[in-house]
This record gives sequence, C-alpha cells and structure tokens, in this order.
Amino acid sequence: MFHLILLEPEIPQNTGNIIRLCANSGATLHLVHPLGFATDDTGLRRAGLDYGDRARVREHGGLAACLRELGETRVFAVETAGGRRHSDVTYGAGDAFLFGRESAGLPRDLVAAWPADRVIRLPMMPGNRSLNLSNAVAVVIYEAWRQLGFGGST
Ligand SMILES: C[S@@+](CC[C@H](N)C(=O)[O-])C[C@H]1O[C@@H](n2cnc3c(N)ncnc32)[C@H](O)[C@@H]1O
Repeated sequence: MFHLILLEPEIPQNTGNIIRLCANSGATLHLVHPLGFATDDTGLRRAGLDYGDRARVREHGGLAACLRELGETRVFAVETAGGRRHSDVTYGAGDAFLFGRESAGLPRDLVAAWPADRVIRLPMMPGNRSLNLSNAVAVVIYEAWRQLGFGGST
C-alpha cells in the first residue's frame, strides 16, 4: 500500500520497530545502504520481534536505485525543515515517505532540491530538535493510512 524509505539508518532497534510497524500497517520498507548495522543484528531482531517474515523489506544500494524501482510513485521527504504539516496533505494509496538518518537527518541539498510541496514536517514544541525516527515514521504512516480508512485492517 504505502512505501517507507529509510536512508542509511544507523540504529538497529529503530529499524526493528519500523519492521514491526510495516507488518502491522502493510507498508513496504525500503532500506537504503549503507546501513549502520548488520541485518542479522540482535537488537534489530529483538525490536522487530517475530514480525520480520510478515513485513515486506527491500534493500537498495543507494537512493537512486530505490527511487528508480518506485518509478512514478509520489515520494514525500519527511524532515524537520519541511514546509507542510504532514496532516495538511491528502495521501493516496502507493505514496512513499523518505526519512533521514538518526544522527543527521536527510542531506540538506537533497531537501532543498525536493519539490517543496512534497517535504513534510511533524509539529513539535518550540526549541526541540526532532522526534525519534521510528516515532516519526509511525505518526506519518498512521495519518496516511487513516486517510484511506485503514483499508485492509481488521
Ligand atoms: C532523529 S531525526 C534526526 C535529524 C534531525 N534533523 C536533527 O536535527 O538531528 C531522524 C529522522 O526522523 C524524521 N523526523 C524526526 N522528527 C521529525 C519532525 N518533527 N518532522 C519531520 N520529520 C522528522 C526525519 O526523517 C529525520 O531525518
């Protein structure tokens, strides 16, 4: 249904949480290398519990390869510097969401070059830097899925 793209994720527990989130929301996870951990990392497996085999996970050598595979899919960059609030966008089935690294976020030049109406942010209290990556992913995917009536869920 939706696609979640993690650009060079660094913390295995975050990716494990997101794998579990994908199993529960039906989203496909795209991991863009280099990863900061091995895919058999214990922390990743523990956080993902036994959901690994219920989630669709694709790995890509770089962002260009990932975007090539997604073709005409609308891709929203999700970053604190985004100009649009995530809840102000009307999402459609098949949309994709691109998230940055835990330490540095998405590269500044990538965000600057992205179509401005496809860079979204999650509201925060003033003076705060960012949400945890897996929390940010959860907020975005549940808003997008909510707009589609949680189609396919029980
Ligand atoms: C832990 S954040 C780190 C990057 C952050 N720019 C910083 O100041 O260090 C990792 C990723 O989570 C997502 N994220 C976290 N908080 C967000 C927010 N308030 N709005 C949009 N994206 C957010 C973004 O994709 C970001 O690249």
